[in-house]
Amino acid sequence: MLCLAPCVGTREGHTQAPPGQPLELTAEESAILRGDLGEALRKTMESVVRYGAAFGARRLVDIEGAPHLVTSFGAGTMKPYFAMLDELIAAGLRSARPFTVDPRPVDRLNLRYGVTDRLLLTLLYGRQEAYEGQLAKLGLRDGDAFTCTCYLPEVGNTPQRGAVLAWSESSAVVFANSVLGARTNRNAAGIDLLCSVLGKAPLFGLLTDEGRRASWLVEVGTSGLPNAQLLGSAIGQRVIDEVPYIAGLDRFLGPAGEETTASYLKDMGAAAASNGAVGLYHVENVTPEAVALGRDLLEEGHSRYAVSDAELERVMRGYPVLWKRSDAKPRLCFVGCPHLSLPQVAQWTERILDALHAAGRDRLRVDTCLCAAPQVLEAFSRSSPQRERAVRAGVTYTSVCPLMFMNNPLARRRAVVTSSNKLRTYTTARFFLDDEVLRIIVEGRVKASPS
Ligand code: F3S
Repeated sequence: MLCLAPCVGTREGHTQAPPGQPLELTAEESAILRGDLGEALRKTMESVVRYGAAFGARRLVDIEGAPHLVTSFGAGTMKPYFAMLDELIAAGLRSARPFTVDPRPVDRLNLRYGVTDRLLLTLLYGRQEAYEGQLAKLGLRDGDAFTCTCYLPEVGNTPQRGAVLAWSESSAVVFANSVLGARTNRNAAGIDLLCSVLGKAPLFGLLTDEGRRASWLVEVGTSGLPNAQLLGSAIGQRVIDEVPYIAGLDRFLGPAGEETTASYLKDMGAAAASNGAVGLYHVENVTPEAVALGRDLLEEGHSRYAVSDAELERVMRGYPVLWKRSDAKPRLCFVGCPHLSLPQVAQWTERILDALHAAGRDRLRVDTCLCAAPQVLEAFSRSSPQRERAVRAGVTYTSVCPLMFMNNPLARRRAVVTSSNKLRTYTTARFFLDDEVLRIIVEGRVKASPS
């Protein structure tokens, strides 16, 4: 393929084109776009090419890892999406590699639903079974492939460093880019599937070296390791969709490959991705590209953001309380958005049982859900003697997506507490730091807000 664009040093040797310019396609891609291989594949190619052109992509590149899809719910309102899937299936198209999907919206096996809840869920997700049938025909890995933490070792959809992907789930995108050093844009829902069928993604943004450079230097000067969800929130609110280079965190963290560091970065990234729209961050001396390139990753003229203990307190104080009454009795607690890693499930279980023991109680006052991938929960139940005690104390282990669980008018009215800043952002759940979450679920009440 002949390219007349000037080469100025991206990984692929091309900068982006102005949005709207046609992409340079290979002979094979052009044939697909003409419809030589059928109408469904032509439409797939046209959608991906138009999407790429809107973002200034110059061409398509091959996808090098297994796909992960964001759309996990069979909502009856998404008729055009289901019709598109039917068209792909009828044409015999499917993902080149088996894929994983975000968590299911409902867990009838482990969660208790009242009669009204069940009716509502049937109305909302009445197409769930049919949708999962479509996914199976399109290349779904297996019936347990539903989690946003597909990259964890127990789940096994872990991309290699440098691998090109086309994922959409924001918490998985930011982890794959930042911690694993893979390359994916924050794609739109549906585009992830079309790219996986095509085996190609448009080359722009976070797929390029220049798109991965940092425009913000975030200097963490806190007295100790900050709460990951709070730090991510502060960074996301400040840099929005740009790339931060975070200095000062390496005082508290080990290498990115260590489980505790990876879990911390998972939660920090998900908060930055949801409280802002961060798709990639670098942590000095910790994440792979920062280890390799250091401050050469910083763009000239970058902005700066200093994060102190006082700044994190300011961010926390700014969160609105969306409960009807701020002193309401909490009804439910969700921990694990994004889904917990195996060490996190074990740690939360232990902390809950210790807190109950310290309070002289044997049962939680607030029903508490610990959310994790099916494979993580399976590994935990095989290895933990404490699981049954925790269940008796009021803990539910589930692979549901708490956001989807709360995404209905009934759930919205309930006083839900969480340690997740993503759940706080998208629902009426109220965010507390981990120690306070523990106190609340043991004592069954929130403290009065200072007036
Ligand atoms: Fe995962 Fe659902 Fe939270 S997809 S990040 S558990 S909103």
